[in-house]
Amino acid sequence: MSVTSVIGLQWGDEAKGKVVDLLTEKHDVVIRYQGGNNAGHTVKFSGNTYKLSLLPTGMLQSHVQSVIGPGVVVNPEAILNELDSLIAGGIDCAKRLMISDRAHVICPWHHLEEAAFEKQRGSKAIGTTMRGIGTCYREKVGRFHAIRMGDLINKDRFADKVREIVPFKQIVLNALDPDSEQLNADRIIEDYSACADRLRPMVADTTAWLLNALENNQRLLFEGAQGSLLDVDHGTFPYVTSSNSSGCGIHSGSGIPERAIDTMIGVAKAYTTRVGGGPFPTELDNDLGQQIRVAGNEFGTVTGRPRRCGWFDAVATRYSARISGVDSIAVALLDVLSGLGELNVCEAYNVNGEITRDLPSCPDALRLAKPVLRAVPGWTEDITGIRKFADLPPNAQLYIQTISELVERPVQLVSVGPDRDQTIVITPLPGF
Ligand code: GDP
Ligand code: IMO
Ligand code: MG
Repeated sequence: MSVTSVIGLQWGDEAKGKVVDLLTEKHDVVIRYQGGNNAGHTVKFSGNTYKLSLLPTGMLQSHVQSVIGPGVVVNPEAILNELDSLIAGGIDCAKRLMISDRAHVICPWHHLEEAAFEKQRGSKAIGTTMRGIGTCYREKVGRFHAIRMGDLINKDRFADKVREIVPFKQIVLNALDPDSEQLNADRIIEDYSACADRLRPMVADTTAWLLNALENNQRLLFEGAQGSLLDVDHGTFPYVTSSNSSGCGIHSGSGIPERAIDTMIGVAKAYTTRVGGGPFPTELDNDLGQQIRVAGNEFGTVTGRPRRCGWFDAVATRYSARISGVDSIAVALLDVLSGLGELNVCEAYNVNGEITRDLPSCPDALRLAKPVLRAVPGWTEDITGIRKFADLPPNAQLYIQTISELVERPVQLVSVGPDRDQTIVITPLPGF
C-alpha cells in the first residue's frame, strides 16, 4: 500500500504541481481535497505546458483516476472549461474524474459578495483571487444558504434552493453596494442546470469510493492546493485562504483517515513568494526581489499578479513542516538563485527584541518580526542540467543542507527547472 500526500510549506506556488506529476506515475488515484479554482498548478513535460486549477494534476496521466473530494469548492462552469481545454489538448479525461456529491458549489452571489467585501477593506484587502472561494466556504460553515454538488445535479432541489437564496442574497448585496449587479434566479438556474447535465455522470459519493480503494490497496496520492501558511486555522490569518491548506485538511477534505498516509512530502521553494496581502517577514521589496521575480517568472498562474519575493524563511517553513508532520521536503526552483551573489536564509525572528523560532500567531507580532538572517555563499553556475546532488556546486549543496538543518527535515528532492526531468532525487520517492 502506498498513500502519499504532497503539500505546500509556504504561501502557495511552491511547485506542488510538478512534484505531484512526478509521483503520479506510481499512484492509481490522485485526490484534491481542499480549495477550488484559486489554485494554479503548472506542469511541464515533453515540450508541453499544462496549467491546472481545479482539476487534480493526475488528470494528465491516463492510468490515473482523479477525485475531487468533499472539502473542495467547485465552480461548475470553471471545471467544465478546464476539462474542455484538456480534451482539446488531446487528453481524454472526463471519464477519469469523480466529484464528491458533498463538495460545495460556487454560485454567482459568492463572487459579488467577495468583491464587495474586498472593496470595503480598502488597504487591508486580503487580495483574494476573486473566485468566490471564501464566500462559498463561509456559506458551507453557516449552512443556511449552501448548495452542494448533490443538490446541483438534482434539478428540482437545485431550482428550489436558488429561488430561496437569491432574494435574501440580493438584499445583502444591495446593502453592501447600492450599484451591485442584480441576480437573476431564472438565468442562474438555466446556466447551472446546463452545467449539471454534463457533470451529473461524474458526481458520486467519493468518500465511500476512496475508502474502498484504500482497502483494496490502491495507491492514493493527495494533492494539496495553496500552502500551509494560507491555512485558515494555522496560517497567517486573516491573510489566508478559507480552507485547511496544510496537511491538516486531508482527513476532513477527503474522508480518508490521516493515519492511512504513509508519506507526507512538503514542497518549498528555495526562496519565498507570496501573492496578495499580509505579512511577509523575509520580503525583498527591492531590486533583488525584482531580480528573483524575473528569474523565477514569479507571476500568478490564476490572476497574473506579480508575486512578492523574499529570502527562504526557515521559521515559517519549519512551522509548516511540524504542523503537518512532513517526512521530507522537496526544494524547488533552486536554479533561480544561480548568480544572485551571497544568499540569506532566515533562521529566527526578532520580535520586539525577542528572538524566536516560532511563527507568531498574532498578525501584529508577525508584521513586526524582523528576520535573523544566516548568510550562505552563492554560486554562479547554471545548474538546470544537473541530475545528481553530488554534481551541484558545493555552495548549492551547502544551501540545501542549510535548509534541511533549519527546517529539521531531510531534503528528498531538488528541482532545478520546470521540466519533469529537471529533478534531482536524493532518496527514492514513494513507490519508486
Ligand atoms: P504550485 O501552485 O505549487 O503547483 O506551483 P505553480 O505551478 O503555481 O508555480 C511554480 C512555477 O514554477 C511553475 O510555473 C512551474 O512550471 C515552475 N517550476 C517548477 N519547478 C521549477 C524549478 O525547479 N525551476 C524553475 N525555474 N521553475 C520551476
Ligand atoms: P496554489 O495552489 C498562491 C492566496 C491569494 C490571497 C489568499 C486568499 O497555486 O499554490 P482566496 O482566493 O483563496 O480567498 O485568496 O490566498 N492564494 C494563493 N496564493 N497560490 C495559490 O494556490 C493560492 N490560492 C490562494 O492570493 O492572498
Ligand atoms: Mg500555483
